[in-house]
Amino acid sequence: MPKRILVTGVGSAPGFDLARSLQQLGCKVLGADADPHAAGLLLPEVTAHILPSAVDAAYRAALLRPCAKARPDAVLSTVERELPRMVALRRPLADLGVTTWLPDRDAVAACGDKARFAVVLAEHGVPTPRTVLPDELDRAPDGPLVVKPRHGQGAKGVHVCQTRKQARVLCELIPAPIVQEHVRGQEFTADCLVDRAGRASVVLRYRLLVKGGLAVVSRTFTDPDAEEHVRAALAATGVTGACCVQGFIRDDVEGPGRVVITEANARVAGGFPASVAAGADYVGQYLRGLFRQDIDHSRLTYKPDITLTRYVETLTSSEGTTR
Ligand SMILES: Nc1ncnc2c1ncn2[C@@H]1O[C@H](COP(=O)(O)OP(=O)(O)OP(=O)(O)O)[C@@H](O)[C@H]1O
Ligand SMILES: [Mg+2]
Repeated sequence: MPKRILVTGVGSAPGFDLARSLQQLGCKVLGADADPHAAGLLLPEVTAHILPSAVDAAYRAALLRPCAKARPDAVLSTVERELPRMVALRRPLADLGVTTWLPDRDAVAACGDKARFAVVLAEHGVPTPRTVLPDELDRAPDGPLVVKPRHGQGAKGVHVCQTRKQARVLCELIPAPIVQEHVRGQEFTADCLVDRAGRASVVLRYRLLVKGGLAVVSRTFTDPDAEEHVRAALAATGVTGACCVQGFIRDDVEGPGRVVITEANARVAGGFPASVAAGADYVGQYLRGLFRQDIDHSRLTYKPDITLTRYVETLTSSEGTTR
């Protein structure tokens, strides 16, 4: 029997690509999103579900309802705001026979809150940009600064400015902001799969061209120093399952401080198809881990210098006022 999997967040690249990859692996996909116009709801063969936003009080009942009715084998979330809610729903979902594979509460908090992430990495001695809250702006580092929402996703509301005065204004405009040293260098993402015993596979790729927060051109590479820092960030946060870590390799620094880790997300990254193109059986092994089968890390190795270019295409067109 093909597995039936509910994927949330199918309007954005991580959820859309995860839904498509699962279909290619023979799964039946139920797609969910808070936006009725989400592209992934229109993927052929996908059963569409509209959910309220994760911050909405109705979210809990709205997620459990289709699960009780359609009884998917599992639910996979690609929306970070949803993860704390989903962790709290683990038990009722299990009672419905719906499998989840979620990191624990602390790991979800460390990844989903960029202020917490900075503290956790600093505590574990993993290099990360100096980060302050708006009321600590006087202690912000000199030089260009990044102001961004501490609970952001998809690079929404990320601004670069030059002075603390500018940062102060941005802090008034951005919800729950943090202020961070602006790092320069070659940005990368690591597509990671951490099994239940804590063993991680890490696929590194440069983000060569980024549009709207999505790496539209990625190229895989190897770099033992970057890999070590990614592994340190995974261990520091305690994140498990499919996740991604982002960072920079500074052009002007050799030795310590060359690699800086900026982010970890407890979900698949938008650009993971690049890792798949480079040979990693990323979604296949994710599925195995989800259903408590052993992950074969030898199938998560990859070739460096594989470049993947993505482009927005038309999915469908239709006539009328309903879709
Ligand atoms: N401290 C920084 N220095 C330099 N660039 C930064 C910094 N913080 C963020 N950026 C840039 O902004 C982008 C989005 O930032 P970040 O990853 O923190 O936000 P996000 O909303 O969680 O995005 P994502 O969905 O990709 O995880 C980064 O990919 C990077 O290009
Ligand atoms: Mg993020």
